[in-house]
Amino acid sequence: MKILAIDTSCDDTAISVMEIPNTKSQIPNFKIVSNVVSSQVKLHAKYGGVYPSLAKREHIKNLPLVFKRAVKGIKISEIDFVAVTVGPGLEPCLWQGINFAKDLAEKLKKPLIAVNHIEAHILANFIGRGPSSASFPAVALVVSGGHTQLILMKGIGKYQLIGETRDDAAGECFDKTARILGLGYPGGPAIAAEAAKLQTTNYKLQTKLPRPMINQKNYDFSFSGLKTAVLYEFQSRSPKIKKSPRYIQAMCSEIQQAIIDVLLKKTLKAAKDFKAKSIILGGGVVANDELKKQFKLKVPGLGLKVNFFVPEKKYCTDNAAMIAITAFFNKNKKANLRKLKADANLSL
Ligand code: KG4
Ligand code: ZN
Repeated sequence: MKILAIDTSCDDTAISVMEIPNTKSQIPNFKIVSNVVSSQVKLHAKYGGVYPSLAKREHIKNLPLVFKRAVKGIKISEIDFVAVTVGPGLEPCLWQGINFAKDLAEKLKKPLIAVNHIEAHILANFIGRGPSSASFPAVALVVSGGHTQLILMKGIGKYQLIGETRDDAAGECFDKTARILGLGYPGGPAIAAEAAKLQTTNYKLQTKLPRPMINQKNYDFSFSGLKTAVLYEFQSRSPKIKKSPRYIQAMCSEIQQAIIDVLLKKTLKAAKDFKAKSIILGGGVVANDELKKQFKLKVPGLGLKVNFFVPEKKYCTDNAAMIAITAFFNKNKKANLRKLKADANLSL
C-alpha cells in the first residue's frame, strides 16, 4: 500500500510517500519512499515569525515543485490513498494543501484521508518501529510553534486532552524571546545553539527567570510571563552587556532551562498521576537536544516502568511522513471531497 501525504499547516511545504508492504502484520513496516520539506524560513526570518499571506503564496508556488520531487521514480497510479492535514494550523496555508490534495485524489480516483496535525506529531514516533512498541496508557506531550498540550492516550486514536497552554506555546516562547535577544528565526534552534556555547565559558546570570505554573496541581502551561520577564531583563541591561556574547549565551541557557523545567515537571507529574506505561514526545520543540537529554535522565527516576519515545529529529519538526503514518491508522475514515475544509482550531 502507498500513501501520498501533504502538510501545509504552517510555513513548510511538505509531501511524503510512504509504503506499507504488509499492512496485516502486527508491526507494519512503514517505509518512507520520499520525505520532501521545502522550508520558507529565510523568507519569514526578516519578520521574526510566519507571515500567513506570504506563506500561502509560497505554498501555491512550492506545492507542484515539492510534489514532483516526492513522486520521482514512483508511478502515481500506484498511490492508494492521498492524505492531507486539515488542522490545526494557519487557515490560508491549510487550504492550499487541501485544494492540492482534493485535485490529486480526484485525478487519481483514490480516497482522501483528513489528518489532524497534532495526532501526526504523536504518531511520528512510530515511523521507524511500529506502534506495538508502546504500552498504554501513555502520556503524550506535543510542543510546537502553535501548541503545548498534554494528552492522555489510551491507544492509537484514543486521546484525552489533560492540559494545554493558557497563552503562548513553548515554541512561540522560544521564537519571541530569540527575537528580543536579536537572534534569528526560528528561535528554538537559535537559542539552543547559543545555550550550547555557554558550557565552555563561565558566566553567571544574576537573574533567575520564572518557571510559570510549575508548582500548580493542574497540567496546564503558561509561557507569556516568561517572555515578558526576558524582555524586562534585557531592557534593564546596558548596551555593552546586551551585545556581550556571554550574556546572550547565559540568557539562552536560562530561557531553554526554564522551558524544559516546566515541560519536564508537568509531564512527569501527569505520567505518575495516570500511571502511564509510556511517555511520548512530539513537535518541533522536542528536536531540542538538551530537552531530550534531560527527559531521558529523569524518566527512569519516576519509579514506574515507563517506555520513553521521541521521534527522530527530522520527524519532530513539520514533515509529511508523520501525516502519512497517521493516515494509515485512519484509513477507514475516508473524507467527503465536497465537504472537506480547513479547521484552524481542530482539536484531537
Ligand atoms: O512542529 P513545528 O515544526 O511546527 C509547528 O507545528 O508549529 O514546530 C516549530 C517550533 C518553532 O517554534 C521552533 O522554534 C521550534 O519548534 N523548534 C525548536 C527547535 N527546533 C525547532 N525549539 C527548541 N529547540 C529546537 N532545537
Ligand atoms: Zn507541527
